[in-house]
Amino acid sequence: MAEYLASIFGTEKDKVNCSFYFKIGACRHGDRCSRLHNKPTFSQTIALLNIYRNPQNSSQSADGLRCAVSDVEMQEHYDEFFEEVFTEMEEKYGEVEEMNVCDNLGDHLVGNVYVKFRREEDAEKAVIDLNNRWFNGQPIHAELSPVTDFREACCRQYEMGECTRGGFCNFMHLKPISRELRRIDPGRGPVNVGLDPEIVVVEVVVEEEDVNVIGGGQEIVKDLVDSEPCHFYYNENCKANDKEREWIRPDTPSKCTWKLGKPPSDSPHRHTTLPEPLKILPSILNKVGNTPLVRINKIGKQYGLKCELLAKCEFFNAGGSVKDRISLRMVEDAEKAGILKPGDTIIEPTSGNTGIGLALAAAVKGYRCIIVMPEKMSMEKVDVLRALGAEIVRTPTTARFDSPESHVGVAWRLKNEMPNAHILDQYRNASNPLTHYDTTAEEILQQCDGKIDMLVATAGTGGTITGISRKLKEKCPDCKVSGKPKAFLFSGVNLKLLHLIIGVDPEGSILATPEELNKTDKTMYEVEGIGYDFVPTVLDRSTVDQWYKSDDEESFTLARMLIREEGLLCGGSSGSAMSAALKAAKELKEGQRCVVILPDSIRNYMWWNISVQELKLSAPLTVLPTVTCAKTIEILREKRFDQVPVVDESGAILGMVTLGNMLSSLLAGKVQPSDEVSKVIYKQFKHINLTDNLGKLSHILEIDHFALVVHEQIQYHTDGSSSKRQMVFGIVTAIDLLTFVTARERERKSN
Ligand SMILES: Cc1ncc(COP(=O)(O)O)c(C=O)c1O
Repeated sequence: MAEYLASIFGTEKDKVNCSFYFKIGACRHGDRCSRLHNKPTFSQTIALLNIYRNPQNSSQSADGLRCAVSDVEMQEHYDEFFEEVFTEMEEKYGEVEEMNVCDNLGDHLVGNVYVKFRREEDAEKAVIDLNNRWFNGQPIHAELSPVTDFREACCRQYEMGECTRGGFCNFMHLKPISRELRRIDPGRGPVNVGLDPEIVVVEVVVEEEDVNVIGGGQEIVKDLVDSEPCHFYYNENCKANDKEREWIRPDTPSKCTWKLGKPPSDSPHRHTTLPEPLKILPSILNKVGNTPLVRINKIGKQYGLKCELLAKCEFFNAGGSVKDRISLRMVEDAEKAGILKPGDTIIEPTSGNTGIGLALAAAVKGYRCIIVMPEKMSMEKVDVLRALGAEIVRTPTTARFDSPESHVGVAWRLKNEMPNAHILDQYRNASNPLTHYDTTAEEILQQCDGKIDMLVATAGTGGTITGISRKLKEKCPDCKVSGKPKAFLFSGVNLKLLHLIIGVDPEGSILATPEELNKTDKTMYEVEGIGYDFVPTVLDRSTVDQWYKSDDEESFTLARMLIREEGLLCGGSSGSAMSAALKAAKELKEGQRCVVILPDSIRNYMWWNISVQELKLSAPLTVLPTVTCAKTIEILREKRFDQVPVVDESGAILGMVTLGNMLSSLLAGKVQPSDEVSKVIYKQFKHINLTDNLGKLSHILEIDHFALVVHEQIQYHTDGSSSKRQMVFGIVTAIDLLTFVTARERERKSN
């Protein structure tokens, strides 16, 4: 023992544990403490250090006697902070058992937030992720905390309102949230805030919302300026100030209180009626809406449907898509509300079609228009936007919606920097579902003489499906099918099983319910305009009776069929809607009717019909991983290639080597010429399938120098099992694509 004590004398091991750190996860001596801060390697609790700022502390006069923020304002500010952090933790990382916020003033505790998760894994995930994030202009410092018992950690005197040490007390002064917050947010579980016994036992009361809003409504446009910005964001290099990052989340909870069965006269919204057809249109904006409903004659039969299948062809709108409706309505409502004035700028984050609708309205009405769209969106859309005089900003497709680089984030930054600029915000604007409630649904009802048994629509913002669904559910209480999955009761009149509204969401998106439907490894899909990684405010998922997930292959196949067999020049999401309709409408009998919304036209996606296969790539060159770097360089020089795939003996792809990365590794001394190329393999390159279209390839080549063309093979093993594997088919560069396009163009001109 003595020997042991001598060996640890004066070292870290010699220290005893710091009881403060153990109890409250912080100590006022910090790293200089003479005792040991035994940092946990796993824990249910995380500490977000110094993240809460009490506005009363920063708004005191120099003598500390006066404070510009009242107690009520301070409490409101705190409740909002609490709710935002709590929601973020639960939504992103997992179930929270308890969350506590310190209102102490000592540096080591000031504004510390302790979040105790139900599962240790969630706490670990949260710490890793949060250290890459910012809150309110400050980088977040998160760590696993040893605190699990907050009764031990908090100051009892503070709870009784009697702590004489004030804010500098060494025990936690846990700030309670207001009763209102506990009441309106009952679903958040046992949040043991402040340990105030009175608050803990408050009974949760779910108050019925005012049921006086009819008709697709969410907040009216004016609300946009009043809404609270979100303070969490990702950005490692950000020197963001608050202003730069002020934005309103596109998934803020909706304030809409629409309920089935309330009379339309109770609606607080301005409703429009269908216009009479005119012989001469005052402007092209009058060619928005009133689109044809066309019978699908062949496809339904080929798929064995008994019912009548009808397509609502939204590509007949002036700008070519369903989004012309909401664009015009949002502009007109903003004008009427006095928000949008002559000379102002409209900025919108959009997947393209809303951009085209807005650019069209802006061109006719004389506004400046800036469209922020993800790179995934087609070049054709960009060309149309440019032709309409819009300015375009592209953002990375992979950016999360809540990161500053996303199309939403960039649009808000522009808005904050530019005078008289407005985001009409299709994700939150009530005019979006309202226009479908007032026009699209009314047109369908008129065209069908009120007889409709099923409606199928894709969801992007969800405005189309929400608006149409609300009107149809109000006007068609009698529609019934032999559907099984969901019982839907219509205001006590018809207690039947109903299956009226079918929503379509691509695999890789999270809009569908139940949540299990969204489980997939896919994060990317090619069909444009539908699906999101957040649930937009205007999407009321309770109005959808059943969701179907769509995939790219089926969607594009069906879209091509709609074009070839029915002559409907529609786009990819029309194929998604039709593919779901062909499954859902199997439930319908003869004489029943299914309407499918076809949102846009092929004009946006002319590259579709040409596949990578048609590039006629030359036979691939590959090397084995055992070939030396020197030999590989020699081969690449001789063959005039810049890169080569590395494959194993069986042809399976291991990675790529390029002249560039070999050279830099050699120069940096990381490898020798005699080393095997397996040492310089890298895997951050893009794959493309032989059957993919050139549109997808051109997106890849806008960012990457090349793509590896692969082909899937099924290989059978001796034991009878089989596995899929990817084989190299070739390498394609921008030069290959350009050569192909120019050759085609020459050919076209000479014909
Ligand atoms: C091509 C396409 N299909 C479908 C939709 C979905 O419409 P909504 O946003 O009303 O859900 C959109 C929306 O942008 C779209 O562009």
